[in-house]
Amino acid sequence: MEILTNYQLKTFNTFGVEARAAYFCLIKNLNDIKELFSSDIWNRPRLIIGGGSNILFTKGFEDLVIKNDLKGIEVQDEDTNHVLLRTGAGENWHEFVMYCIGKDYGGIENLSLIPGCAGAAPMQNIGAYGVELKNTFYSLEAFNLATGKIKTFHKSDCKFGYRDSVFKNIYKNRYLILNVTLKLTKKYHRYYTDYSAIKETLKNNNVKKLTIKAISDAVIRIRTSKLPDPAELGNAGSFFKNPMVDKVDFEGLRAEFSDIPGYNSEANKVKIPAAWMIEHCGWKGTRLGQIGVHNKQALVIVNYGGGKGKDIARLAFDIQDSVADTFGIELEPEVNII
Ligand code: FAD
Ligand code: EPU
Repeated sequence: MEILTNYQLKTFNTFGVEARAAYFCLIKNLNDIKELFSSDIWNRPRLIIGGGSNILFTKGFEDLVIKNDLKGIEVQDEDTNHVLLRTGAGENWHEFVMYCIGKDYGGIENLSLIPGCAGAAPMQNIGAYGVELKNTFYSLEAFNLATGKIKTFHKSDCKFGYRDSVFKNIYKNRYLILNVTLKLTKKYHRYYTDYSAIKETLKNNNVKKLTIKAISDAVIRIRTSKLPDPAELGNAGSFFKNPMVDKVDFEGLRAEFSDIPGYNSEANKVKIPAAWMIEHCGWKGTRLGQIGVHNKQALVIVNYGGGKGKDIARLAFDIQDSVADTFGIELEPEVNII
């Protein structure tokens, strides 16, 4: 295990912004973590990263950045209908989804093409097209950064919510997720095709018989049509969460903005697409030098190359202000701003 100093993180974040870590360490196995844990450098504040696809660096990180590269996929248990499949936290999420589809293990096909590592998936309970990680999540093991002990978290311990889990709040910066186990179907797959875009794409793809592969292909097609590929255009997906408001407040907004969309979510709550509000405020496609708001998805802030993290954060705050002024709603960033 090697500790590198003054390390450039530009290729470790999908915004592609420059930021240096005072110390940087790649972790490949539990021994690397234990070695790091007993070294002097452990006393410094730490930041764990996976694929850097949900992080915005607005400055350098003066302490220790730990890049998790814990690999390995293995079956923990199985019966005729289900498999408990464990993935190392450092496995690439989309490659893991493709592995599952190759084995005909169902449950995460709607989560195809989400960038990043498997270990970050429980952090915000990743979700797309009607499915969230929590639907198949079974357990995870995490390394307690203070005690060095490994703890198993089952689903109820994680308190998963929309883009939320205990690891984003009460246990923030307290654990390094080592691996994640999912309970996937081997037979009788449940297909989530409620999203109209999925229905339409399955039709356009001429799908006669539903399979998890057909759904994955449809999801990939939809995503590539509107979300920028970070390899070509720096971004971190949705910059903000979609806000949830009380039904009665939503009715008030509808009286003023007759075409505002809203989806029933929890009881008496309506989820409003932040992208619609941002577009309504005139931001979609706006370019400010090397950064801007994507022209196909207003919720995505992009770096055309050479943009600075602090400028992206400023743009995000300006967007937040204009949405607050127009709709009285405070958008909450989904991206972790450092
Ligand atoms: P990072 O950005 O490296 O880290 C994210 C957070 O998790 C940080 O706080 C970090 O400290 C922490 N962390 C990472 N790994 C660990 C670990 N092993 N232990 C403890 N803490 C850890 N998200 C969705 O939910 N749905 C989408 O549809 C979606 N689409 C996206 C599309 C694009 C084009 C992009 C760029 C992003 C998208 N995202 C989406 C956001 C992002 O891909 C996910 O949040 C992903 O899970 C982040 O993984 P990562 O490894 O890159 O995490
Ligand atoms: N819309 C606009 N303008 C736009 C884009 C969208 O008005 O530029 C409106 C439309 O009314 C559209 C609605 O917003 O029907 C929803 O748009 P979309 O289906 O693209 O989804 P989203 O709400 O913007 C969410 C997630 C995505 C996830 C997709 C698909 C959040 C914050 N974002 O986006 O997740 O992939 O749904 O399920 O919940 C991410 O978290 O990084 C992410 C990309």
